[in-house]
Amino acid sequence: MIVANWKMYGTKQMVNDFFSAFLQKKTFQNHYIFCLPFPLLAYARAYSVDLGAQNCSAFEEGAYTGEVSANMLQEAGCRFCLVGHSERRLFFHETKETLREKVKRLLNAQITPIFCIGESLEEKQNGSTQAVLEEQLSSLVNITTNIIIAYEPIWAIGTNAIPTIQDIEDVHKMIKTKINTKILYGGSVNPDNAKELKSSHFVDGLLVGRASLKVDSLLAL
Ligand code: PGA
Repeated sequence: MIVANWKMYGTKQMVNDFFSAFLQKKTFQNHYIFCLPFPLLAYARAYSVDLGAQNCSAFEEGAYTGEVSANMLQEAGCRFCLVGHSERRLFFHETKETLREKVKRLLNAQITPIFCIGESLEEKQNGSTQAVLEEQLSSLVNITTNIIIAYEPIWAIGTNAIPTIQDIEDVHKMIKTKINTKILYGGSVNPDNAKELKSSHFVDGLLVGRASLKVDSLLAL
């Protein structure tokens, strides 16, 4: 499973160019999921690709200007949605409680949440990775099925720094003891490091930012 997170990049033109080329060149049997900015989902829907959103509202519906509900995403063709990406936790102050609500809304709308967790560099250095991840996972009490976890150390996102495979496997094993589901790795995944990641039994897939914006680098994964 390779989940492309386009973040706030892309245009209508890029969607059309990207997916025309992607569908033509794709030869591998990977399961690709494209998490696009909301308006671009409508253009991407014309291509037969699996779509996801990057966020949704914690509310079902109502007077919440600027929000997009899980049901709307479902109608727009999304089968997946990122929840709690570190950029959202950091820049939009998303809390444990809000994230739990989002996960519940998505599950009700038959959308699989891709729940992102990860520690900061400081937390890693002071040895609190496990405690931080456990705290983040506590949003998911009693939620055990139809969810994917993405482990993305904050210090590895967009930096070209990535943990050793041993560290990633240790963390994934720890997560599996809390919730038995698919666990993706994300943070500076590129064609050079993808091979080792994909060969690990403890890595069920990849969540990819920068390297997902170009067809060739995405397919090289
Ligand atoms: P990156 O981003 O691959 O550019 O490091 C990953 C992410 O933020 O999901």
